[in-house]
Amino acid sequence: MDQSETQILNRDATGLARAVSFLKHGRLVAFATETVYGLGADARSDEAVAGIFTAKKRPGFNPLIVHVPDADAAQAHVIWNDTAEKLAAAFWPGPLTLVLPLRPGHTIAPLVTAGLDTLAVRAPAHPGAQNLLRAFGGPLAAPSANPSGRISPTSAAHVLEGLGGQIAGILDDGDCAVGLESTIVGLTGDWPVLLRPGGVTSEAIEAVLGAALKHRSKGATLNAPGQMLSHYAPRSALRLNAVSTHPGEVMLGFGAQTGDLNLSDSSDLSEAAANLFAHLRQLDTLGQPIAVAPIPDHGLGRAINDRLQRAAAPRN
Ligand code: TXA
Ligand code: MG
Repeated sequence: MDQSETQILNRDATGLARAVSFLKHGRLVAFATETVYGLGADARSDEAVAGIFTAKKRPGFNPLIVHVPDADAAQAHVIWNDTAEKLAAAFWPGPLTLVLPLRPGHTIAPLVTAGLDTLAVRAPAHPGAQNLLRAFGGPLAAPSANPSGRISPTSAAHVLEGLGGQIAGILDDGDCAVGLESTIVGLTGDWPVLLRPGGVTSEAIEAVLGAALKHRSKGATLNAPGQMLSHYAPRSALRLNAVSTHPGEVMLGFGAQTGDLNLSDSSDLSEAAANLFAHLRQLDTLGQPIAVAPIPDHGLGRAINDRLQRAAAPRN
């Protein structure tokens, strides 16, 4: 397939119908969510889901998130509990993913969970994603729509750049408002565990739970097989918490510490999250090492720092 064989679909009725038809034929369609663009496939079809792993060159042991329109739809696939109910009531639809035990008799393809007996489910808030899920009428497995290990896409152009020619279509729905992936909370043990910081802050989750989240122990790969150290990587090297540039570096600024690009002039962490991946991509085209200003480690800053640390980690 050459790049032009990937159809860019409008968010109108024709584009939506096209996307649904592709998905029903087991093909891949990228679509916008409020976090990042997802690469969707019918989660009930091992063949369709296999296409995701091929297109992304994703390791087969890294399981996928299943997208559903709401909590009712999620309960067809997982064993629900009171904590799931509380968190879904507070944050769904939205940038929160819950990991729960698979329900006996579920119809999710084994490749989605990489053989685990748990499933990650999320109800995205983006109206385009909601329309697609309802029009398709089934669960969509969707990782971020980028080649494995690279920067996640927050626009249709980013998706085309990484996966053009390898997927049937891209539903173009503009830029993603949150800009960072969903927060993942594991609900399979005796206490909720933060598996990945993301678009819902842990402070907000803890306020709803009335208690602190447990944190994933470092190096515990079993819970979150996809939490690889090197991820979201630009081509250029990244240096974090930089207060000035070294010769030859370009600077990604934050607040008063400006640079070649600034994540947020006004030190607004939501704005910084929304700009993070697009700014990294833009600086990466310059082919110079990137110095990144310090980002406060609270609220959305924790998710930003998590992504920056993985982007800066030694590549494997
Ligand atoms: O915002 C998002 O979550 C985006 C949009 C498209 O929804 N999706 C996304 O998917 O970020 P992906 O595949 O890039 O990241 C999913 C993460 C991986 O780290 C994976 O290991 C973890 O979710 N995951 C999936 N199923 C899991 C499970 N059963 N237990 C633990 N972690 C799981
Ligand atoms: Mg990803």
